[in-house]
Amino acid sequence: MSDAPSSSSPATRPLARIGYAAAQGARVAWYTAHYALLRAMTRGGGERPRDDAPARSTAPARPTAPPPDRAKVRAAFRALFDADRANIEAGLYPPPRDLDPTRLLRTLRQSRAFFADARAVEARRRRKDATEARALDRSGRYPSYYLQNFHYQTDGWLSRRSARLYDTQVEVLFTGAADAMRRAALAEIARAIRGTDQRRIALLDVASGTGRFLAQVMDAFPRLAATGVDLSPAYVEEASERLAPWPTAKVLEANAESLPFEDGAFDAAVSVYLFHELPPRVRRLVAAEVARVVRPGGLVVFADSIQTGDDPNLDRMLESFPGWFHEPYYASYLAEDLDALWAEAGLARERETLAFLTKVRTYRKPAA
Ligand SMILES: C[S@@+](CC[C@H](N)C(=O)[O-])C[C@H]1O[C@@H](n2cnc3c(N)ncnc32)[C@H](O)[C@@H]1O
Repeated sequence: MSDAPSSSSPATRPLARIGYAAAQGARVAWYTAHYALLRAMTRGGGERPRDDAPARSTAPARPTAPPPDRAKVRAAFRALFDADRANIEAGLYPPPRDLDPTRLLRTLRQSRAFFADARAVEARRRRKDATEARALDRSGRYPSYYLQNFHYQTDGWLSRRSARLYDTQVEVLFTGAADAMRRAALAEIARAIRGTDQRRIALLDVASGTGRFLAQVMDAFPRLAATGVDLSPAYVEEASERLAPWPTAKVLEANAESLPFEDGAFDAAVSVYLFHELPPRVRRLVAAEVARVVRPGGLVVFADSIQTGDDPNLDRMLESFPGWFHEPYYASYLAEDLDALWAEAGLARERETLAFLTKVRTYRKPAA
């Protein structure tokens, strides 16, 4: 049985395009306004990042890449949405429900909480203090690379407050493009599943965070056997609540360095925005674990930041990023040879898609 979303008919397409443009346009305007307001709030001593801003932290002292051509950045941003819409029209996944009035109240609440927290984030940024999260761990079970305030976020990964703020923070950072970038990974999952019985597909999402990506997957394939894992109990709770409408989806607390699954337990695994937050040594451990739990012939969908040279016009933004958002492993990630990393784990690359600031690659485990 195959019940993937069907492609739109030429007759209804113009209407669907208007709906898509309205929803995504509203979304981008909403988060761009957040970004602008945040800049205004934090101006003076704590400027928001500019692509030509002096770098701090792990960013190089002097940027080496030239400033970006703004028109080309806007074109790359638009291309992301054009590709997303083309994927929807091709029937890879359904249109996102971004103008759902039942979610309006929640969105407004999140927005209020985001601004209420913004000054604390900014104060941490000015102090360059990304170690507060350490004090929240009384168990001693988290690796030290994990116990940091990534992006100077409040509580690091260790509270529900952090989990509730996360989605808004990411969308503000990407001015409303984060979900569309994640859907570039969904397209690869859809390509793999198309024509098969989704109930027989076991998918693992490694570092599932708040379940944002898994919810997109389940919206498209509501009977998939999907498992998310994340090291943060608070994020696991948040994701479990989000995924409650889908009985075949579940989320567990686990370290991606040692996944609690049998060899070959999954047909496919995906990981979105994890690897740039891991030290190089740990990236290898996680890749090996992901490769282990995927069956022979199975698929790994890797989605994370683009790297140096993927779009030379964006190199300066990539270079400046870790100086403004605490991202201690990002500079090493930019230079990581991802194909070699996955080859060490026994996987070979198949496809690559660039989706504005996100790169999606698919890797295949050889059949037994
Ligand atoms: C940048 S977020 C990405 C979350 C989600 N995939 C998304 O698309 O938004 C990184 C996530 O990785 C999780 N994480 C980091 N190191 C981990 C590890 N060793 N094992 C499991 N999860 C980890 C964090 O708890 C956090 O939820």
